[in-house]
Amino acid sequence: MPSTTSNLRVSQISPLIFQSEIRSMSVECDRVGGINLAQGICDTDLPDSVADQAIEAIRTGQNIYTRLDGIAPLRQAIAAKLLRHNKIAADPDSEILVTSGATGALYAASLALLNPGDEVILFEPFYGYHVSGLLSMRVKPVIVPLAPPDWQLNLDTLRQSITPRTRAIILNTPSNPSGKVFSAAELQAVADLAIEHDLFVITDEIYEYFLFDGARHISIATLPGMAERTITISGLSKTFSITGWRVGYLTASAKWIPSIGYFHDLTYVCSPAPLQYGSVAGLTQLSESFYESLSTEYQQKRDQLCQALTDAGLPPSIPAGAYYILADVSRLPGDTAQKKARNLLAATGVAAVAGTAFFAEGRGENTLRFCFGKKPEALDRACEALRSL
Ligand SMILES: Cc1ncc(COP(=O)(O)O)c(C=O)c1O
Repeated sequence: MPSTTSNLRVSQISPLIFQSEIRSMSVECDRVGGINLAQGICDTDLPDSVADQAIEAIRTGQNIYTRLDGIAPLRQAIAAKLLRHNKIAADPDSEILVTSGATGALYAASLALLNPGDEVILFEPFYGYHVSGLLSMRVKPVIVPLAPPDWQLNLDTLRQSITPRTRAIILNTPSNPSGKVFSAAELQAVADLAIEHDLFVITDEIYEYFLFDGARHISIATLPGMAERTITISGLSKTFSITGWRVGYLTASAKWIPSIGYFHDLTYVCSPAPLQYGSVAGLTQLSESFYESLSTEYQQKRDQLCQALTDAGLPPSIPAGAYYILADVSRLPGDTAQKKARNLLAATGVAAVAGTAFFAEGRGENTLRFCFGKKPEALDRACEALRSL
């Protein structure tokens, strides 16, 4: 068949989305046997109780589809955790949806609540999946830059970005990649604008337990007037170091859950059944000290990597939360961030992600993102290698 006459081609949107820079850097790192500080894959150990319960669930036959909103014990455990840690009162039967990670939650919520041509505001530096997810639905991401070095929110810029087509604001706190933790005043300002312009707020709080130097996590859903318009997304990938399990959740008004649940069912059917049981064990059995130790342990890792980057002449922007560091890599050879990332990998065996993955076009060329959600040995080796630069 002559291929020149064929109409077979990828969709118009495909080239805009294509393989994420983060994944391609991981592939390149594997190829050269490097230390991967690129992808947020967090290879630290999971809690024993979580693993044991999942194995037990597989052995005792919990291997079939679950209800589309997840198993009841998990929804109940999430409701208890939301009340205890987030001050969100959610009914486990009508206001919680167990999802295929926070990613599945965001995708299903966007399909359920947004229309093609809608505009959605995101803060820069942003998490690439948020932008690409919207693009895949023909929704227009509108980028509002936060001001470095501490990523302050400029309220005037935010206000000016709102148009009659704006339908939602996506928040990510603590943020990947900047580590910004939105303050109470900033969240109140975002909430005021959302109420004034009748917008949804979709908030990705997956790093809620990774907080440094006394930073406090506040869920915007708890601010007055926000419960009905907020979709709060989180998950267990990061908290329990189970990124490959695909267990996340969202909580929202019972008005939205059936529609979001329908789209989640259509794409993912359900989060893996035995892994939902493992997650229940984590949420119900781990003590408060487990969550507190996450902050302590990761703050040490943050300090260790920040120091190594400083010593290497790559000044870091110190994150207040999450487990990534944006560093100024002006001194590395290469005229783009991608080339700088590849040169760093060649020189030190350390993989990082080009900053351009997190900024609108033309920005981020002198920035790389380093992940410190790593086992101590890997982090030690990476720090040593960076210092040799
Ligand atoms: C901001 C943010 N949201 C969501 C995710 C993915 O979460 P999950 O594994 O629950 O889909 C990540 C992972 O890197 C992330 O950084």
